[in-house]
Amino acid sequence: MLPLKEKDKPIVQKLLSAGCCARCVLRFCCVSVQAAYRQAQHETLKELQTFIMEKENNKVQDSADIKPHDTESSQTVEDPPCKRAKLDPTEAVQSETDDAAMVTLKKEESSVCALCLGILQDLCGPDQAIKIVETVKSQNYEFDTLVLSVSLPAQLCVREHSCWLHVKKEVRQKGLVLDKDDVIQVKEAFKWIMQGLVTKQLEGVAVVSKSPFEVGVEFTHPDTESDCHFLAKCCPDCFKPTKNKQSVFTRMAVVKALEKISDVKFLEHYPCPPSEPSGSCTPQDIQCLHVSVFIAGRYNKFCRSLPQTPWVIDGERRMESSVEELIAAPILSAFRADGFNFSSSGREDVDVRTLGNGRPFAMELLNPHRSRFSKVEMKQVQETINKSSDKIRVRDLQIVTREAMSRMKEGEEEKTKSYTALVWTQKSIENEDISFINDIKDLTLDQKTPLRVLHRRALAIRQRVIHSMNVRFVDSHHFYLGLKTQAGTYIKEFVHGDFGRTKPNLCLLLKTDTDILELDVESVDVDWPPPIPE
Ligand SMILES: *[C@@H]1O[C@H](CO)[C@@H](O)[C@H](O)[C@H]1NC(C)=O
Ligand SMILES: *[C@@H]1O[C@H](CO)[C@@H](O)[C@H](O)[C@H]1NC(C)=O
Ligand SMILES: [Zn+2]
Repeated sequence: MLPLKEKDKPIVQKLLSAGCCARCVLRFCCVSVQAAYRQAQHETLKELQTFIMEKENNKVQDSADIKPHDTESSQTVEDPPCKRAKLDPTEAVQSETDDAAMVTLKKEESSVCALCLGILQDLCGPDQAIKIVETVKSQNYEFDTLVLSVSLPAQLCVREHSCWLHVKKEVRQKGLVLDKDDVIQVKEAFKWIMQGLVTKQLEGVAVVSKSPFEVGVEFTHPDTESDCHFLAKCCPDCFKPTKNKQSVFTRMAVVKALEKISDVKFLEHYPCPPSEPSGSCTPQDIQCLHVSVFIAGRYNKFCRSLPQTPWVIDGERRMESSVEELIAAPILSAFRADGFNFSSSGREDVDVRTLGNGRPFAMELLNPHRSRFSKVEMKQVQETINKSSDKIRVRDLQIVTREAMSRMKEGEEEKTKSYTALVWTQKSIENEDISFINDIKDLTLDQKTPLRVLHRRALAIRQRVIHSMNVRFVDSHHFYLGLKTQAGTYIKEFVHGDFGRTKPNLCLLLKTDTDILELDVESVDVDWPPPIPE
Protein backbone atom coordinates (compact mmCIF):
# COMPACT_ATOMS: atom_id res chain seq x y z
CA MET A 1 0.00 0.00 0.00
CA LEU A 2 1.66 3.20 -1.11
CA PRO A 3 0.98 6.27 1.02
CA LEU A 4 0.31 8.56 -1.92
CA LYS A 5 -2.06 11.47 -2.06
CA GLU A 6 -4.02 12.92 -4.93
CA LYS A 7 -1.54 15.78 -5.24
CA ASP A 8 1.24 13.29 -5.98
CA LYS A 9 -0.47 12.14 -9.16
CA PRO A 10 1.07 14.66 -11.55
CA ILE A 11 4.51 14.02 -10.09
CA VAL A 12 4.17 10.26 -10.45
CA GLN A 13 2.89 10.78 -13.96
CA LYS A 14 5.71 13.08 -15.02
CA LEU A 15 8.52 11.06 -13.51
CA LEU A 16 7.33 7.73 -14.86
CA SER A 17 7.21 9.13 -18.37
CA ALA A 18 10.64 10.69 -17.84
CA GLY A 19 12.08 7.22 -17.30
CA CYS A 20 12.44 7.26 -13.54
CA CYS A 21 12.20 4.05 -11.57
CA ALA A 22 9.34 3.36 -9.19
CA ARG A 23 11.49 3.98 -6.11
CA CYS A 24 12.71 7.32 -7.40
CA VAL A 25 9.09 8.29 -7.93
CA LEU A 26 8.40 7.49 -4.29
CA ARG A 27 11.37 9.64 -3.30
CA PHE A 28 10.04 12.61 -5.19
CA CYS A 29 6.66 12.12 -3.61
CA CYS A 30 8.51 12.42 -0.30
CA VAL A 31 7.32 9.00 0.83
CA SER A 32 9.17 8.33 4.05
CA VAL A 33 7.61 4.98 4.82
CA GLN A 34 10.61 2.67 4.59
CA ALA A 35 8.55 -0.42 3.79
CA ALA A 36 7.38 1.21 0.57
CA TYR A 37 10.95 1.10 -0.73
CA ARG A 38 11.51 -2.46 0.40
CA GLN A 39 8.73 -3.99 -1.59
CA ALA A 40 9.58 -5.43 -5.00
CA GLN A 41 10.05 -2.75 -7.65
CA HIS A 42 7.61 -4.29 -10.11
CA GLU A 43 4.94 -4.30 -7.42
CA THR A 44 5.56 -0.63 -6.72
CA LEU A 45 5.50 0.18 -10.41
CA LYS A 46 2.20 -1.65 -10.81
CA GLU A 47 0.72 0.26 -7.90
CA LEU A 48 1.91 3.55 -9.33
CA GLN A 49 0.39 2.69 -12.69
CA THR A 50 -2.90 1.85 -11.05
CA PHE A 51 -2.72 5.00 -8.96
CA ILE A 52 -2.35 7.44 -11.83
CA MET A 53 -5.22 5.86 -13.66
CA GLU A 54 -7.60 6.17 -10.76
CA LYS A 55 -10.28 8.69 -11.52
CA GLU A 56 -9.72 11.87 -9.69
CA ASN A 57 -13.20 11.99 -8.19
CA ASN A 58 -13.59 8.54 -6.79
CA LYS A 59 -10.20 8.55 -5.24
CA VAL A 60 -9.16 11.32 -2.96
CA GLN A 61 -6.99 10.60 -0.05
CA ASP A 62 -7.26 7.09 1.21
CA SER A 63 -4.37 5.14 -0.17
CA ALA A 64 -5.93 1.91 1.02
CA ASP A 65 -8.10 1.97 -2.06
CA ILE A 66 -5.21 2.18 -4.46
CA LYS A 67 -4.20 -1.38 -4.31
CA PRO A 68 -6.55 -4.31 -3.96
CA HIS A 69 -5.77 -6.89 -1.30
CA ASP A 70 -3.06 -9.32 -2.11
CA THR A 71 -5.46 -12.15 -2.91
CA GLU A 72 -6.98 -10.13 -5.69
CA SER A 73 -3.84 -8.58 -7.02
CA SER A 74 -3.22 -11.21 -9.69
CA GLN A 75 -6.57 -10.42 -11.24
CA THR A 76 -5.74 -6.75 -11.40
CA VAL A 77 -2.53 -7.47 -13.21
CA GLU A 78 -4.28 -9.41 -15.95
CA ASP A 79 -6.93 -6.78 -16.18
CA PRO A 80 -5.03 -3.70 -17.36
CA PRO A 81 -6.24 -0.75 -15.34
CA CYS A 82 -6.27 1.51 -18.37
CA LYS A 83 -9.14 -0.54 -19.77
CA ARG A 84 -11.27 0.44 -16.84
CA ALA A 85 -10.59 4.08 -17.44
CA LYS A 86 -11.14 3.82 -21.17
CA LEU A 87 -14.45 2.04 -20.62
CA ASP A 88 -15.67 4.91 -18.57
CA PRO A 89 -17.22 7.30 -21.12
CA THR A 90 -17.40 10.21 -18.70
CA GLU A 91 -13.67 10.29 -18.14
CA ALA A 92 -12.20 12.08 -21.13
CA VAL A 93 -9.61 14.20 -19.32
CA GLN A 94 -7.98 11.09 -17.98
CA SER A 95 -7.01 9.78 -21.40
CA GLU A 96 -3.85 11.82 -21.59
CA THR A 97 -2.80 10.31 -18.31
CA ASP A 98 -3.63 6.86 -19.56
CA ASP A 99 -1.56 7.20 -22.70
CA ALA A 100 1.46 8.22 -20.73
CA ALA A 101 0.89 5.31 -18.42
CA MET A 102 0.68 2.97 -21.38
CA VAL A 103 4.04 4.19 -22.58
CA THR A 104 5.71 3.46 -19.26
CA LEU A 105 4.01 0.11 -19.03
CA LYS A 106 5.38 -0.88 -22.39
CA LYS A 107 8.86 0.15 -21.42
CA GLU A 108 11.27 -2.64 -20.72
CA GLU A 109 11.26 -3.36 -17.03
CA SER A 110 15.02 -3.50 -17.27
CA SER A 111 15.52 0.04 -18.54
CA VAL A 112 17.87 2.02 -16.33
CA CYS A 113 16.44 4.84 -14.23
CA ALA A 114 17.46 8.29 -15.50
CA LEU A 115 17.60 9.52 -11.93
CA CYS A 116 19.36 6.94 -9.75
CA LEU A 117 21.25 5.33 -12.64
CA GLY A 118 20.15 1.90 -11.51
CA ILE A 119 21.21 2.17 -7.90
CA LEU A 120 17.69 1.72 -6.54
CA GLN A 121 16.96 -0.91 -9.17
CA ASP A 122 19.22 -3.91 -9.74
CA LEU A 123 22.06 -2.55 -7.60
CA CYS A 124 20.08 -2.79 -4.43
CA GLY A 125 18.64 -6.09 -3.29
CA PRO A 126 19.42 -9.50 -1.80
CA ASP A 127 22.25 -10.21 -4.28
CA GLN A 128 24.08 -7.03 -3.29
CA ALA A 129 23.51 -7.78 0.38
CA ILE A 130 25.15 -11.19 -0.12
CA LYS A 131 28.07 -9.58 -1.92
CA ILE A 132 28.59 -7.03 0.85
CA VAL A 133 28.39 -9.66 3.56
CA GLU A 134 30.80 -11.97 1.75
CA THR A 135 33.35 -9.17 1.59
CA VAL A 136 32.86 -8.25 5.25
CA LYS A 137 33.18 -11.87 6.36
CA SER A 138 36.29 -12.45 4.26
CA GLN A 139 38.09 -9.60 6.02
CA ASN A 140 37.54 -11.15 9.40
CA TYR A 141 36.69 -8.08 11.48
CA GLU A 142 35.40 -8.21 15.04
CA PHE A 143 32.20 -6.14 15.33
CA ASP A 144 28.72 -6.05 16.91
CA THR A 145 27.13 -3.45 14.66
CA LEU A 146 27.99 -1.77 11.42
CA VAL A 147 27.22 1.41 9.62
CA LEU A 148 26.59 1.27 5.91
CA SER A 149 27.97 4.21 4.00
CA VAL A 150 27.17 4.92 0.38
CA SER A 151 29.19 6.94 -2.07
CA LEU A 152 27.35 8.00 -5.20
CA PRO A 153 28.53 9.54 -8.46
CA ALA A 154 28.37 13.33 -8.23
CA GLN A 155 26.32 13.60 -11.41
CA LEU A 156 23.35 12.11 -9.55
CA CYS A 157 22.93 15.57 -8.00
CA VAL A 158 22.75 17.13 -11.44
CA ARG A 159 20.13 14.61 -12.55
CA GLU A 160 18.22 15.08 -9.32
CA HIS A 161 18.22 18.84 -9.90
CA SER A 162 17.00 18.41 -13.46
CA CYS A 163 14.14 16.18 -12.31
CA TRP A 164 13.32 18.60 -9.56
CA LEU A 165 12.95 21.42 -12.09
CA HIS A 166 10.88 19.08 -14.20
CA VAL A 167 8.28 18.54 -11.49
CA LYS A 168 8.61 21.95 -9.88
CA LYS A 169 6.59 23.69 -12.55
CA GLU A 170 3.76 21.25 -12.08
CA VAL A 171 3.87 21.56 -8.34
CA ARG A 172 3.83 25.37 -8.47
CA GLN A 173 0.92 25.46 -10.91
CA LYS A 174 -1.15 23.35 -8.58
CA GLY A 175 -0.18 25.71 -5.77
CA LEU A 176 1.38 22.87 -3.83
CA VAL A 177 4.31 23.18 -1.54
CA LEU A 178 7.12 20.77 -2.13
CA ASP A 179 10.51 21.45 -0.78
CA LYS A 180 13.57 20.01 -2.46
CA ASP A 181 14.87 19.06 0.98
CA ASP A 182 11.85 16.85 1.53
CA VAL A 183 12.75 14.65 -1.39
CA ILE A 184 14.13 11.40 0.00
CA GLN A 185 17.82 11.01 -0.84
CA VAL A 186 18.98 8.08 -2.97
CA LYS A 187 21.41 7.23 -0.17
CA GLU A 188 18.62 7.11 2.35
CA ALA A 189 16.39 4.89 0.23
CA PHE A 190 19.33 2.64 -0.56
CA LYS A 191 20.04 2.16 3.14
CA TRP A 192 16.39 1.54 3.98
CA ILE A 193 16.35 -1.26 1.45
CA MET A 194 19.75 -2.73 2.21
CA GLN A 195 20.00 -2.52 6.00
CA GLY A 196 17.52 -5.29 6.70
CA LEU A 197 18.95 -7.50 3.98
CA VAL A 198 22.50 -7.13 5.30
CA THR A 199 21.38 -7.79 8.87
CA LYS A 200 19.67 -10.95 7.70
CA GLN A 201 22.81 -12.14 5.91
CA LEU A 202 24.94 -11.37 8.97
CA GLU A 203 22.70 -13.42 11.25
CA GLY A 204 21.40 -10.47 13.19
CA VAL A 205 24.26 -7.95 13.37
CA ALA A 206 22.45 -4.62 13.44
CA VAL A 207 23.05 -2.08 10.71
CA VAL A 208 22.90 1.22 12.56
CA SER A 209 23.60 4.90 11.90
CA LYS A 210 26.62 5.11 14.18
CA SER A 211 29.12 2.33 14.70
CA PRO A 212 32.88 1.95 15.04
CA PHE A 213 32.74 -0.35 12.01
CA GLU A 214 31.92 1.08 8.61
CA VAL A 215 31.20 -0.74 5.40
CA GLY A 216 31.46 1.51 2.38
CA VAL A 217 29.65 0.88 -0.88
CA GLU A 218 30.66 3.03 -3.82
CA PHE A 219 29.11 3.44 -7.24
CA THR A 220 30.52 5.12 -10.30
CA HIS A 221 28.98 5.79 -13.69
CA PRO A 222 31.67 6.77 -16.18
CA ASP A 223 29.22 7.23 -19.09
CA THR A 224 27.52 10.19 -17.45
CA GLU A 225 30.47 11.83 -15.73
CA SER A 226 30.34 14.62 -18.29
CA ASP A 227 26.92 15.57 -16.88
CA CYS A 228 28.76 17.79 -14.40
CA HIS A 229 31.11 19.49 -16.82
CA PHE A 230 28.90 22.43 -17.80
CA LEU A 231 28.82 23.47 -14.15
CA ALA A 232 32.53 24.27 -14.26
CA LYS A 233 31.88 26.87 -16.94
CA CYS A 234 28.95 28.39 -15.06
CA CYS A 235 30.62 28.36 -11.66
CA PRO A 236 34.39 28.08 -12.01
CA ASP A 237 34.88 29.16 -8.38
CA CYS A 238 33.21 25.99 -7.14
CA PHE A 239 35.71 23.70 -8.82
CA LYS A 240 39.17 24.40 -7.50
CA PRO A 241 41.67 21.57 -7.97
CA THR A 242 42.71 19.92 -4.71
CA LYS A 243 45.82 17.84 -4.21
CA ASN A 244 44.33 14.58 -3.05
CA LYS A 245 41.23 14.39 -5.25
CA GLN A 246 41.54 13.03 -8.77
CA SER A 247 38.53 14.97 -10.06
CA VAL A 248 37.36 18.47 -9.21
CA PHE A 249 33.77 17.29 -9.58
CA THR A 250 33.30 16.18 -6.01
CA ARG A 251 29.81 15.81 -4.69
CA MET A 252 30.31 18.83 -2.42
CA ALA A 253 31.46 21.05 -5.27
CA VAL A 254 28.60 19.97 -7.51
CA VAL A 255 26.02 20.61 -4.78
CA LYS A 256 27.50 24.06 -4.20
CA ALA A 257 27.42 24.89 -7.91
CA LEU A 258 23.80 23.72 -8.18
CA GLU A 259 22.84 26.03 -5.34
CA LYS A 260 24.36 28.96 -7.21
CA ILE A 261 23.17 28.34 -10.74
CA SER A 262 19.86 29.87 -11.82
CA ASP A 263 17.13 27.60 -13.17
CA VAL A 264 17.24 29.36 -16.53
CA LYS A 265 20.95 28.86 -16.90
CA PHE A 266 20.72 25.25 -15.81
CA LEU A 267 18.03 24.54 -18.37
CA GLU A 268 20.12 26.17 -21.10
CA HIS A 269 22.85 23.62 -20.54
CA TYR A 270 21.18 20.50 -19.32
CA PRO A 271 18.20 18.44 -20.57
CA CYS A 272 15.11 18.43 -18.41
CA PRO A 273 14.20 15.69 -17.63
CA PRO A 274 17.62 14.04 -17.78
CA SER A 275 18.44 11.71 -20.63
CA GLU A 276 18.11 8.00 -20.30
CA PRO A 277 21.43 6.32 -19.45
CA SER A 278 22.72 3.42 -21.48
CA GLY A 279 23.58 1.32 -18.47
CA SER A 280 23.65 1.02 -14.69
CA CYS A 281 26.28 2.26 -12.28
CA THR A 282 29.38 0.17 -11.66
CA PRO A 283 29.74 -0.98 -8.06
CA GLN A 284 33.29 -0.48 -6.79
CA ASP A 285 35.13 -2.66 -4.29
CA ILE A 286 33.48 -2.70 -0.89
CA GLN A 287 35.61 -0.91 1.71
CA CYS A 288 35.64 -1.93 5.35
CA LEU A 289 37.05 0.38 7.99
CA HIS A 290 37.18 0.14 11.77
CA VAL A 291 37.78 3.31 13.77
CA SER A 292 41.19 3.61 15.40
CA VAL A 293 41.96 2.01 18.72
CA PHE A 294 44.32 3.83 21.08
CA ILE A 295 46.90 2.06 23.21
CA ALA A 296 49.10 3.49 25.93
CA GLY A 297 51.87 2.24 28.16
CA ARG A 298 55.41 2.93 29.33
CA TYR A 299 58.58 1.65 27.78
CA ASN A 300 62.11 1.01 28.94
CA LYS A 301 64.99 1.14 26.52
CA PHE A 302 68.13 -0.73 27.51
CA CYS A 303 70.22 -0.23 24.40
CA ARG A 304 72.55 2.62 23.37
CA SER A 305 72.15 2.05 19.66
CA LEU A 306 68.41 2.18 19.17
CA PRO A 307 66.58 5.26 17.88
CA GLN A 308 63.04 5.95 19.07
CA THR A 309 61.66 6.19 15.54
CA PRO A 310 63.06 4.78 12.27
CA TRP A 311 66.22 6.69 11.45
CA VAL A 312 66.49 7.50 7.79
CA ILE A 313 69.09 9.82 6.28
CA ASP A 314 68.95 10.63 2.56
CA GLY A 315 66.49 7.82 2.05
CA GLU A 316 68.79 5.32 3.71
CA ARG A 317 68.00 3.46 6.86
CA ARG A 318 70.68 3.96 9.55
CA MET A 319 69.66 1.53 12.27
CA GLU A 320 67.88 -1.72 11.66
CA SER A 321 65.19 -1.12 14.27
CA SER A 322 63.57 1.44 16.55
CA VAL A 323 61.64 1.59 19.80
CA GLU A 324 58.34 2.27 18.08
CA GLU A 325 58.75 -0.60 15.64
CA LEU A 326 59.69 -3.08 18.37
CA ILE A 327 56.63 -2.06 20.37
CA ALA A 328 54.30 -1.82 17.39
CA ALA A 329 54.97 -5.14 15.68
CA PRO A 330 53.33 -7.43 18.28
CA ILE A 331 50.50 -4.91 18.86
CA LEU A 332 49.74 -4.58 15.15
CA SER A 333 49.56 -8.32 14.75
CA ALA A 334 47.38 -8.77 17.85
CA PHE A 335 44.94 -6.06 16.76
CA ARG A 336 45.39 -6.91 13.08
CA ALA A 337 45.72 -3.20 12.35
CA ASP A 338 46.87 -1.66 9.06
CA GLY A 339 49.24 0.87 10.59
CA PHE A 340 49.97 3.08 13.59
CA ASN A 341 50.92 6.52 14.83
CA PHE A 342 53.30 6.60 17.74
CA SER A 343 53.78 9.41 20.21
CA SER A 344 55.48 9.69 23.57
CA SER A 345 56.14 12.03 26.43
CA GLY A 346 59.41 13.46 25.13
CA ARG A 347 62.02 11.29 23.50
CA GLU A 348 65.53 10.10 24.18
CA ASP A 349 68.53 10.17 21.86
CA VAL A 350 69.63 7.02 20.11
CA ASP A 351 72.48 6.48 22.65
CA VAL A 352 70.40 7.21 25.76
CA ARG A 353 68.75 4.48 27.81
CA THR A 354 65.37 4.90 29.50
CA LEU A 355 65.25 3.09 32.81
CA GLY A 356 63.08 3.21 35.92
CA ASN A 357 59.34 3.13 35.31
CA GLY A 358 59.85 4.02 31.68
CA ARG A 359 58.57 6.66 29.32
CA PRO A 360 54.82 7.07 28.69
CA PHE A 361 53.81 6.42 25.09
CA ALA A 362 50.57 6.15 23.14
CA MET A 363 49.73 4.68 19.79
CA GLU A 364 46.88 5.07 17.39
CA LEU A 365 46.14 1.76 15.66
CA LEU A 366 44.68 2.33 12.23
CA ASN A 367 41.86 0.13 10.97
CA PRO A 368 42.14 -2.60 13.63
CA HIS A 369 40.34 -5.79 12.65
CA ARG A 370 40.19 -6.80 16.27
CA SER A 371 39.53 -4.26 19.00
CA ARG A 372 38.38 -5.95 22.18
CA PHE A 373 40.99 -7.29 24.56
CA SER A 374 40.56 -8.41 28.15
CA LYS A 375 43.11 -7.41 30.81
CA VAL A 376 44.61 -10.87 30.56
CA GLU A 377 44.92 -10.61 26.79
CA MET A 378 46.60 -7.21 27.07
CA LYS A 379 49.07 -8.72 29.51
CA GLN A 380 49.83 -11.40 26.93
CA VAL A 381 50.50 -8.77 24.28
CA GLN A 382 52.82 -7.04 26.72
CA GLU A 383 54.63 -10.28 27.38
CA THR A 384 55.06 -10.88 23.65
CA ILE A 385 56.69 -7.44 23.35
CA ASN A 386 58.91 -8.08 26.37
CA LYS A 387 60.07 -11.39 24.95
CA SER A 388 60.58 -10.16 21.41
CA SER A 389 63.78 -8.20 22.19
CA ASP A 390 66.27 -7.51 24.96
CA LYS A 391 66.42 -3.87 23.92
CA ILE A 392 63.05 -2.77 25.26
CA ARG A 393 60.36 -3.65 27.80
CA VAL A 394 56.81 -2.40 28.15
CA ARG A 395 54.54 -2.00 31.18
CA ASP A 396 51.07 -0.61 31.93
CA LEU A 397 49.91 -1.50 28.43
CA GLN A 398 46.22 -0.64 28.08
CA ILE A 399 43.51 0.50 25.71
CA VAL A 400 42.68 4.19 26.21
CA THR A 401 40.37 6.72 24.60
CA ARG A 402 41.46 9.25 22.00
CA GLU A 403 40.71 12.02 24.52
CA ALA A 404 42.80 10.43 27.27
CA MET A 405 45.79 10.44 24.93
CA SER A 406 46.03 14.21 25.13
CA ARG A 407 46.65 13.92 28.87
CA MET A 408 50.12 12.65 28.09
CA LYS A 409 51.06 15.93 26.42
CA GLU A 410 49.30 18.14 28.97
CA GLY A 411 51.66 20.29 31.00
CA GLU A 412 54.56 18.26 29.71
CA GLU A 413 56.92 21.22 30.07
CA GLU A 414 56.24 21.56 33.80
CA LYS A 415 56.93 17.92 34.54
CA THR A 416 60.26 16.80 35.99
CA LYS A 417 62.64 14.22 34.64
CA SER A 418 65.49 12.43 36.37
CA TYR A 419 68.73 11.48 34.66
CA THR A 420 72.06 9.85 35.38
CA ALA A 421 75.05 11.05 33.36
CA LEU A 422 78.55 9.56 33.34
CA VAL A 423 80.83 12.60 33.33
CA TRP A 424 84.52 12.92 32.51
CA THR A 425 86.57 15.83 33.85
CA GLN A 426 89.97 17.10 32.72
CA LYS A 427 91.24 18.01 36.13
CA SER A 428 90.88 15.52 38.96
CA ILE A 429 87.81 15.79 41.11
CA GLU A 430 88.17 17.13 44.64
CA ASN A 431 85.85 16.59 47.59
CA GLU A 432 84.84 20.25 47.58
CA ASP A 433 83.78 19.90 43.91
CA ILE A 434 81.44 17.12 44.93
CA SER A 435 79.85 19.01 47.79
CA PHE A 436 79.64 22.19 45.67
CA ILE A 437 77.61 20.36 43.02
CA ASN A 438 75.49 18.50 45.58
CA ASP A 439 74.51 21.79 47.21
CA ILE A 440 73.20 23.47 44.05
CA LYS A 441 69.39 23.82 44.06
CA ASP A 442 67.04 25.15 41.37
CA LEU A 443 69.69 26.36 39.00
CA THR A 444 68.24 28.25 36.03
CA LEU A 445 69.93 27.66 32.68
CA ASP A 446 69.78 29.70 29.51
CA GLN A 447 69.92 27.19 26.70
CA LYS A 448 70.43 28.41 23.18
CA THR A 449 69.03 25.81 20.79
CA PRO A 450 71.74 23.11 20.67
CA LEU A 451 73.82 22.92 17.51
CA ARG A 452 72.82 19.27 16.99
CA VAL A 453 69.08 20.04 16.81
CA LEU A 454 69.29 23.43 15.06
CA HIS A 455 68.27 21.81 11.76
CA ARG A 456 64.84 20.94 13.18
CA ARG A 457 64.23 23.43 15.99
CA ALA A 458 64.00 27.19 15.79
CA LEU A 459 66.87 29.21 17.18
CA ALA A 460 65.85 30.49 20.60
CA ILE A 461 67.07 30.82 24.14
CA ARG A 462 65.03 28.63 26.48
CA GLN A 463 65.18 28.81 30.26
CA ARG A 464 65.20 25.50 32.03
CA VAL A 465 65.63 24.62 35.70
CA ILE A 466 67.87 21.98 37.24
CA HIS A 467 66.15 21.27 40.56
CA SER A 468 68.95 19.24 42.13
CA MET A 469 72.09 17.21 41.42
CA ASN A 470 74.12 14.54 43.19
CA VAL A 471 77.55 13.16 42.46
CA ARG A 472 78.61 9.50 42.75
CA PHE A 473 82.41 9.29 42.56
CA VAL A 474 83.88 6.68 40.17
CA ASP A 475 87.56 7.68 39.88
CA SER A 476 89.45 10.96 39.90
CA HIS A 477 88.32 11.82 36.36
CA HIS A 478 84.87 10.19 36.29
CA PHE A 479 81.67 10.51 38.27
CA TYR A 480 78.01 9.72 37.88
CA LEU A 481 75.88 12.86 38.00
CA GLY A 482 72.26 12.43 39.00
CA LEU A 483 70.00 15.29 37.90
CA LYS A 484 66.39 16.21 38.59
CA THR A 485 65.34 18.72 35.94
CA GLN A 486 62.46 20.43 34.30
CA ALA A 487 61.29 18.52 31.23
CA GLY A 488 62.94 19.80 28.06
CA THR A 489 66.35 20.48 29.59
CA TYR A 490 69.19 19.51 27.27
CA ILE A 491 71.41 17.46 29.60
CA LYS A 492 74.29 16.77 27.21
CA GLU A 493 74.63 20.49 26.54
CA PHE A 494 74.54 21.31 30.24
CA VAL A 495 77.51 18.97 30.76
CA HIS A 496 79.77 19.96 27.84
CA GLY A 497 78.49 23.52 27.46
CA ASP A 498 77.78 23.38 23.70
CA PHE A 499 80.48 26.01 22.98
CA GLY A 500 79.02 28.31 25.57
CA ARG A 501 75.51 28.09 24.17
CA THR A 502 74.23 26.70 27.52
CA LYS A 503 74.95 28.91 30.48
CA PRO A 504 75.84 28.13 33.17
CA ASN A 505 77.20 24.67 32.37
CA LEU A 506 79.24 22.04 34.20
CA CYS A 507 82.55 23.24 32.69
CA LEU A 508 81.94 26.71 34.14
CA LEU A 509 80.79 25.35 37.48
CA LEU A 510 83.82 23.05 37.91
CA LYS A 511 86.24 25.36 36.08
CA THR A 512 87.51 22.55 33.84
CA ASP A 513 86.65 20.77 30.63
CA THR A 514 83.92 18.19 31.16
CA ASP A 515 82.24 15.79 28.78
CA ILE A 516 79.34 13.38 28.94
CA LEU A 517 80.10 9.72 28.20
CA GLU A 518 76.73 8.07 28.92
CA LEU A 519 73.24 9.22 29.71
CA ASP A 520 70.24 7.40 31.15
CA VAL A 521 66.72 8.65 31.73
CA GLU A 522 65.80 7.44 35.21
CA SER A 523 62.23 8.65 35.36
CA VAL A 524 59.66 10.63 33.42
CA ASP A 525 57.29 12.04 36.00
CA VAL A 526 54.09 12.03 33.95
CA ASP A 527 51.27 10.33 35.84
CA TRP A 528 49.65 8.94 32.72
CA PRO A 529 48.79 6.27 31.74
CA PRO A 530 47.59 4.90 35.09
CA PRO A 531 49.62 1.98 36.39
CA ILE A 532 48.22 -1.49 35.84
CA PRO A 533 48.61 -3.65 38.94
CA GLU A 534 50.59 -6.83 38.27
C1 LIG B 1 48.09 8.97 11.74
O1 LIG B 1 48.73 8.51 10.58
C2 LIG B 1 48.02 8.67 9.39
C3 LIG B 1 48.80 8.05 8.28
O2 LIG B 1 49.59 7.01 8.73
C4 LIG B 1 47.76 10.13 9.16
O3 LIG B 1 46.99 10.30 8.00
C5 LIG B 1 47.03 10.72 10.34
O4 LIG B 1 46.88 12.10 10.19
C6 LIG B 1 47.75 10.44 11.64
N1 LIG B 1 46.94 10.85 12.74
C7 LIG B 1 47.41 11.47 13.80
C8 LIG B 1 46.42 11.78 14.86
O5 LIG B 1 48.57 11.77 13.90
C1 LIG C 1 57.36 -6.56 30.82
O1 LIG C 1 58.48 -5.90 31.31
C2 LIG C 1 58.22 -4.90 32.30
C3 LIG C 1 59.51 -4.20 32.61
O2 LIG C 1 60.47 -5.10 33.03
C4 LIG C 1 57.57 -5.53 33.52
O3 LIG C 1 57.27 -4.55 34.48
C5 LIG C 1 56.31 -6.21 33.10
O4 LIG C 1 55.70 -6.87 34.17
C6 LIG C 1 56.59 -7.21 31.98
N1 LIG C 1 55.31 -7.70 31.55
C7 LIG C 1 55.09 -8.93 31.14
C8 LIG C 1 53.72 -9.34 30.91
O5 LIG C 1 56.01 -9.70 30.97
ZN1 LIG D 1 15.70 5.43 -9.74
